[in-house]
Amino acid sequence: MRGVEDPASSMHEPAALVRFYDEGYTQAPERAALYARWRALGARGKADHVIALCGRAGLLDARPAGHPINTLEVGCGDGALLSELHARGFGGALAGVEITQAAVEIARTRTQIDTVEHYDGEHLPYADRAFELGVLSHVLEHVPDPPALLRETARACDAVLVEVPLEANWSARRAGKRAIAAQIGHLHRLDRAAVHAIVAQAGLEVAAQLDDPLPREVHRFFAEDARARARADVKWGVRAGLHRLAPASARRLFTVHYACLCVPQRLGVRPI
Ligand SMILES: C[S@@+](CC[C@H](N)C(=O)[O-])C[C@H]1O[C@@H](n2cnc3c(N)ncnc32)[C@H](O)[C@@H]1O
Repeated sequence: MRGVEDPASSMHEPAALVRFYDEGYTQAPERAALYARWRALGARGKADHVIALCGRAGLLDARPAGHPINTLEVGCGDGALLSELHARGFGGALAGVEITQAAVEIARTRTQIDTVEHYDGEHLPYADRAFELGVLSHVLEHVPDPPALLRETARACDAVLVEVPLEANWSARRAGKRAIAAQIGHLHRLDRAAVHAIVAQAGLEVAAQLDDPLPREVHRFFAEDARARARADVKWGVRAGLHRLAPASARRLFTVHYACLCVPQRLGVRPI
């Protein structure tokens, strides 16, 4: 796989991973509320990506009336993205699975989600092609064997939407940024080529893709005063401008979020 596996990470053991995520979802009330708002904000952009890519790949047009896109999110966290998809009227049944019990408990409080299951992180408790769409949003960079999880998701779902941060870039390569990525459980620093290699190893191909330098509200979210907000605005302006003019250079310089809709290779969908 191109991209970089972070050798400093001690989180390749399943038990260490589960402990790490449990702590992430179990915080003091004030901090928990802040992070819930952060995840809700992120979910808006992620839902935009799901809907845009399903539209571009023709998944939405191809549905006969009365046959909605039943959707499974693998690694659904607190259920923020599934809730946002529900609010947009996307999908039929909405299901989530998680390895983290604390996240399962939060997601189960959301009545918009039909089912949330705890599972072992490797074997989905569903039959082949049980769902029309699978979603792996900000999960593959966290798992020791990304192609295996993508392959398993594609077994249970006709198409899979993958979203990851592209962190194999100049800015994210700096020691401070790498330490932050390791702290939040990233085991791999990916670029587009690395994601495409994972997709191919899982027996899939990319039907539609996009990347996103993220909106101003995301860059501003943790800014605590006017000075920090002004800095965030400048950072957002420069990044959004460069990404619009020269997206490949932007990807080499800083982190953007990348999303792609993956379908089985045998369908022979022309990559976009
Ligand atoms: C950054 S969060 C993303 C949550 C959600 N998908 C989203 O986009 O908001 C990563 C999640 O992946 C989960 N995770 C890690 N390894 C996993 C695995 N093998 N299968 C499913 N979920 C996993 C973690 O518990 C955590 O909730």
